[in-house]
Amino acid sequence: MKVIETIADLREARRACAGTVGFVPTMGYLHEGHLELVRRAREECQTVIVSIFVNPTQFGPKEDFTTYPRDTERDLSLLEPMTDIVFMPIPEEMYPDGSSTRVDVQGLTEVLEGASRPGHFRGVATVVTKLFNIVQPDRAYFGEKDAQQLRVIMRMVRDLDMPVEVVPCPTVREPDGLAMSSRNTYLTPDQRRAAVILYKSLMMAGEMWATGEHDVATIKQAMTKLIEAEPLAQIDYISLADPDTLEELAGSHARALVSMAVRFGKTRLIDNRLLS
Ligand code: PAJ
Repeated sequence: MKVIETIADLREARRACAGTVGFVPTMGYLHEGHLELVRRAREECQTVIVSIFVNPTQFGPKEDFTTYPRDTERDLSLLEPMTDIVFMPIPEEMYPDGSSTRVDVQGLTEVLEGASRPGHFRGVATVVTKLFNIVQPDRAYFGEKDAQQLRVIMRMVRDLDMPVEVVPCPTVREPDGLAMSSRNTYLTPDQRRAAVILYKSLMMAGEMWATGEHDVATIKQAMTKLIEAEPLAQIDYISLADPDTLEELAGSHARALVSMAVRFGKTRLIDNRLLS
C-alpha cells in the first residue's frame, strides 16, 4: 500500500494503475461503514484508492473541524490489507492560497442538512470534484447513511458530465441499530444508550408504512412523539421527503425518504431510511 500526500505524486501513481480504479473518499477515523465501501471497491475494481482528508470547507465556523477525531496510524493499518493507494493531503495542498472556486449544486442542497448547515454541501461538492479530478476513478463509493450527500454527488456528476460511476452502499449499523459514524465517539455512555432512538423511530416508521399508513404527517408525528420521550435527545429535524427531489411531502405517497438530525448534547447525529 502506497501512502501519498501530494497531488503530483498521486497523479504519477494513478498513471501507472491498470484496469478499473475504485475510489472511496473519507475523512478518516475509519469504522466498519467506511471499510464496507472499501471492501466493495476491492471486489469490483482492480485498483483501490482511498482518501483521508478532513475537509475544512465543509465545516461551519462553529462546527467541529478542529476537534474532528483523527487516528491516521489506526486508519492505515485497517486499510493496509485491501487498499493500493491512500491519498492523505494536508489542507494547504488541497486549498493553496488564493483558491477561490467552489462547486454549488442548487436546490437539493438548500433543504435538510443544507438548511441546518449552510455552506456544508458547497464544501462537499468542491472537495469531491477536486478529488475526482486528482484520482480520476472509474467508480466512486458513497454510503447511504449520508442520503442527501449521495444525491448531491450523483446530481453533480450528472450535471457536470463527470466520467465516474457513483456506487451507493447500504448503511452499516452497530448491533443495537445505531448507524456507525465517526461522531459516535463524542457520545457519553448515557447519550450512546439514548442514541438508539434514531434507529427505533426509523423502524417504527417502517412498520407503520408496512401496515398501510402512508400519510406523512401521521408518521412524522409518531416519530416526533417517540424521540421527544427520550430526555437526552433534541430533535433538529424530522423529514419525509420525495426521494429524488428531497422536497418535503404532504399527504399520502408511494415512496418517501425519511431522514432526521437529532442532538445529544453537542453531538448531532443523522440517519435515514427509504420507505417504498
Ligand atoms: P465520512 O463521514 O468520513 O464518510 C465517508 C464515506 O463513508 C461517505 O460516503 C459516508 O456516507 C460513508 N459512511 C459513513 N458512515 C457509514 C455507515 N455507517 N454505513 C455506510 N457508509 C457510511 O462523508 C464524508 O466523509 C465527506 O463528506 C466526504 C464525502 C469524504 C467529503 O469530504
